[in-house]
Formats: sequence, structure tokens, C-alpha cells
Amino acid sequence: MNKKRGEWSNHLGFILAAAGSAVGLGNIWKFPGKIGANGGGLFLLIYIIVVAVIGLTIMLAELAIGRSTQKNAVGAFHQLNKNWTFAGVIGIITLFVILSYYSIVGGWIMKYIGVYLGGAHFSGTATQYQDFFVNFITKPIEPVLWGLLFLGLCIFIIIKGVSDGIEKISKILMPALFILLIGTAIRSMTLPGAMEGIQFMLHIDFSTFNTDMLVAAVGQAFFSLSVGMGILITYGSYVGKQENLFQSAVWICILDTIVAILAAFAIIPAVFVTMGADGLGMGGGFAFMALPNVFASIPGGIIFGAVFFILLFLAALTSAISILESIIAFMSEEFHITRKKAVAWLFVPLTLLSVGYSLSQLETRGINLPWFDMRNGLQMLPMNAVMEKFTDNLMIPLGALCFCIFVGWVWGVKPAIYEIENEGALRFPLRKIWSFSIRYLAPIAILAILYFTIFKGVI
Ligand code: PHE
Repeated sequence: MNKKRGEWSNHLGFILAAAGSAVGLGNIWKFPGKIGANGGGLFLLIYIIVVAVIGLTIMLAELAIGRSTQKNAVGAFHQLNKNWTFAGVIGIITLFVILSYYSIVGGWIMKYIGVYLGGAHFSGTATQYQDFFVNFITKPIEPVLWGLLFLGLCIFIIIKGVSDGIEKISKILMPALFILLIGTAIRSMTLPGAMEGIQFMLHIDFSTFNTDMLVAAVGQAFFSLSVGMGILITYGSYVGKQENLFQSAVWICILDTIVAILAAFAIIPAVFVTMGADGLGMGGGFAFMALPNVFASIPGGIIFGAVFFILLFLAALTSAISILESIIAFMSEEFHITRKKAVAWLFVPLTLLSVGYSLSQLETRGINLPWFDMRNGLQMLPMNAVMEKFTDNLMIPLGALCFCIFVGWVWGVKPAIYEIENEGALRFPLRKIWSFSIRYLAPIAILAILYFTIFKGVI
């Protein structure tokens, strides 16, 4: 997928590459934290509905735009309707911010690979694992260096044009990740005391419903599926004309969601076992704090843990590369500069933002750094929290809304369906439902989310 617009080598290659973009830190680092913070079973149910209805709708729209125009996100809008170029630009801005923090968390994973390979992280107590994590992410320099190493690797892969390797990596990565996650989930769910965690995940209590939960589910679903930012426009531009876009989109949604659910079942019961329900309040770092307990209870767990973090690293890498690839494809195609030049332009601002994200973690230890605080609605929050909310709750839904309105009302559902039906070669069974969803259902739902985000102070 470089130089002249290449194509994925076959059907499976495309699905796996797109799943490679979708499956990443969002599934394993973010998702369990969001379930924990938003009350378990009901959130899970809402999440699945959002993926199946809105996520799938938009994914299909993006793939259709991409394959029809054969362009990066911005170029695609520019070609179809110049006035809508901004929709692609929103996506690129979002991706830029995501990549800056994705790299830092990718760096955490690399650190953990080192820790497991060194055999150090095996016989501690639950509190020690937690302290280790918090101490590490709040160090001023080390996590930044790991983050830069992660970013550097992505850049190296993209510049060397070995992105074809993404396809190859994904073929082994996905099945391996599946197997390991299933193993981890089984172990976690059979730990003494895990029942409470399993119940938390499965018990649906409608009285816990609130709008924050809805906003979180939509933001998380879009982030996890990589929709709303134009990634799948870029990926769609590499898809062969004979490919069945609908089927592919369904597969990508299914794979991504299964990985997220497996990760949650691997992590949440372990949180309950080691920290009880109070542990849920700790948010973000579950994968790093709770999983070591699970690995420690598995014979040969140190190897298991090392392999787990290596796979997680590869999953993060394939996602980060898809982000970087989209930004670089945009810069080089729209500004007519080489890919190397594009990287050179990106590097400094990206690094600055990453450093800000990493340093503002210090506030998790109660160390107040006022210059890293940002206004977020009425409250002041550390920069890292604001960056995540800004992308997940505001920018991604905004991009997704633009895509819906554009395809539903500007470009039109007719040309989109013509593309989805391979110019008449196959029939898209859900064409009516999809048209309704892209024109009315999805945009109205997203508008509601943006309303809550902006006016009810979720951001
Ligand atoms: N979907 C990826 C994940 O869940 C992250 C991602 C976000 C990838 C945005 C591409 C674009 O980790």
C-alpha cells in the first residue's frame, strides 16, 4: 500500500489490515477502563448496539468514499465536493492528537515487554503492581523516551515503505491475540473471587443509565473501530473493486468488538479480585495494573505475560501506523511533498504534544502542575485527560457527523450504494436500512452526543 496506489493482496488481507487498525490500545487499554467507569453490563450493551448500528453505518460510508475516489481523506472530499474538504481536515487534526498520546501508551507497552522479559514483574502483590505502574508513568523522562521510541518505530516502518508488512503481521497477530486473550480471560474469570467481576460485566441495570455513559459508548466505539477520522477512507482507497465492502465492514466490526469484550473479561474480574469494586475508580491503567496478577497465577505466567505484551505492542503498532499513514498520505498528496518531508514537519509538534501528555500524568500522584491544566467546560483538568476527552467525545463524533451528512445528503446515498454494490455487480441487502441510518439515525444520535458533550460538560 505505497507508491502508486497499491491494493490489498486479497480479501482476507484487507479485512485483517483494517482490523489491524481497529484492534489496538483502544480495545485493551481504554475499553476495560470505560466499562469500569460506566457501570458494567448496561454500558456493554449500549456499546454493542452503537457498534452494530452507528459504527457499521459510518464504516461503510467511509469505505465507499475511499474506494470510489481512490484518495486520502482530505483529497476524497476535495474531489467529491470542494466545500466539504474541511470534513477530511477535522479527521486529520483528530488523528494528530490521538497519535501523540497513542505513542506514549505504546511506549508503556514497550516498557512492560522489557519488564517481563527481564523476569522482574512476577511475584509482587497487587499493590506493588499498581505502584510500579503509577511510578513509571509519572516519571518525567523515561516514559517520554519510550514513547519516542515507539513513534520512531512507526516512522521507520512508514518511511521504509514496508507497510506491506502490516498485512503480514496482522495475519499472525490476530489469531495469536485471540488465543492469548481467551486464555487470559479464562484464567481471570476462574480466580477466586472473580464472580463479582463477571456479574458486574453481565448485570444490566437500566436504572444506572445516564448520558455520560452514552457519550462514552459512542466515543469509545468510534475510536475503537477507527471510524470518524477518515482512516477507513484511506484504507478503502486501497480496496479492490471486486471486494464486498459490506461484508468486510461487518467482519471488521465483529473482530474488533470480540477483542474488546475478551479484553474486558480478562481484566475486569482481575480488578475485582485484587482491588474490589473500589478498583474500578482507578480508570485507565487496568491492563498494566490488574493483568500482572492474572499472569502471576498462571504456571509459566512470566512467558505468558511477555508474549501478551509483545502481541499488544504489535496491535498498537499496526493501529499507530494506520494513523501515521493517513496523516502522511494526506500531507504528501495534498501538499506535494515527499513522505520524508511530511514526517519532518510532523515530528516536532507531535513530540511536544506527547511530552505534555506524559508529563501531565504526574497529576495522578497528586502533584499539581498548573501549566499543564486545561479548562474543560467548567473544570480544570490535567492535559492528558483533556486530550482524550477532546478526541473521543468531541472531535471523533464531529468528524463522524460530517461524514454522515456528507454521504447522506451531499454526495448522496445513490452513488454510495452504487459503490457498495460494486457498480451493480452485487446486491447490498440492507440498502434501505443503511440509507435511513446514514441520513437520519446516525446523524441525530451523534448530534445528541455532541449536545451532551458541549452543553452538559462531558468535555
Ligand atoms: N482503533 C484503534 C484502537 O482501538 C486506534 C485508532 C484510533 C486507530 C484512530 C486509528 C485511528 O486502538
